Amino acid sequence: MNKKEKKIIQVFDLLHVYKGKVETIALSGINLSVSKGERLVIRGKSGVGKTTLLHCLAGILKPTAGKILVESRDIIELNEDQQADYRCQTVGLIYQSYNLAPFLTVKENIEFPMILAKKPEEKREKHTDELTEFLEIERYLDQKPEYLSGGEQQRVAIAVALANNPPIVLADEPTGNIDVETSQIIYEHLSRMCQVYGTTLIIASHDPDASKYADREIMLTKLQSRSL
Ligand SMILES: Nc1ncnc2c1ncn2[C@@H]1O[C@H](COP(=O)(O)OP(=O)(O)OP(=O)(O)O)[C@@H](O)[C@H]1O
Ligand SMILES: [Mg+2]
Repeated sequence: MNKKEKKIIQVFDLLHVYKGKVETIALSGINLSVSKGERLVIRGKSGVGKTTLLHCLAGILKPTAGKILVESRDIIELNEDQQADYRCQTVGLIYQSYNLAPFLTVKENIEFPMILAKKPEEKREKHTDELTEFLEIERYLDQKPEYLSGGEQQRVAIAVALANNPPIVLADEPTGNIDVETSQIIYEHLSRMCQVYGTTLIIASHDPDASKYADREIMLTKLQSRSL
């Protein structure tokens, strides 16, 4: 079967309303299908709901209504243990601000998700070595993240996201804090790593450069009822 034919993510009529003093309809009528191994870029103006959509896909935000099937499982219906497992094993998240643990070394940051997933030490070390070699950050293994440049920290964040070989990686503005040249390096690494591991990659970004490294680009707008 062609990798493009197998759907890993299917989103049906997704609605998310942030409740508070003011109610904000962040997402409405979103239908989205993503193929296994596809590299997808989500573009769209600020406030259009890109982060909200990624957080719903990551299982860290429960949408107000709709359905999200990942590998044919409805992730909104998962119980707490299944949710924790989903976040640890099925999705890797990359943020604009790297989100590395400042008190841990690069090596410890990368190994942490593998410890949560109860991977044996030998496997952890082997995979950490492989990831850091691919990402050309092996010389920083014993450093704390603060001593690394933004681009280097983001490459560590990519390694953290890929630590458990998740089938899906979600990246939210991964180059938002990084200069244009370094951004290209980040996208190249991210795209290549996902190809190597067969990972489905979804990047939310304003950056037109991101699309150069993707198979497909979609544009989120505030218009209701979109099929993407
Ligand atoms: N925690 C929250 N509470 C209330 N409203 C929120 C919250 N997070 C986001 N929103 C609102 O939901 C809408 C979508 O926000 P979201 O952050 O998903 O947009 P975005 O497309 O990621 O924007 P940007 O490109 O600036 O990152 C916006 O109107 C925003 O103000
Ligand atoms: Mg955002």
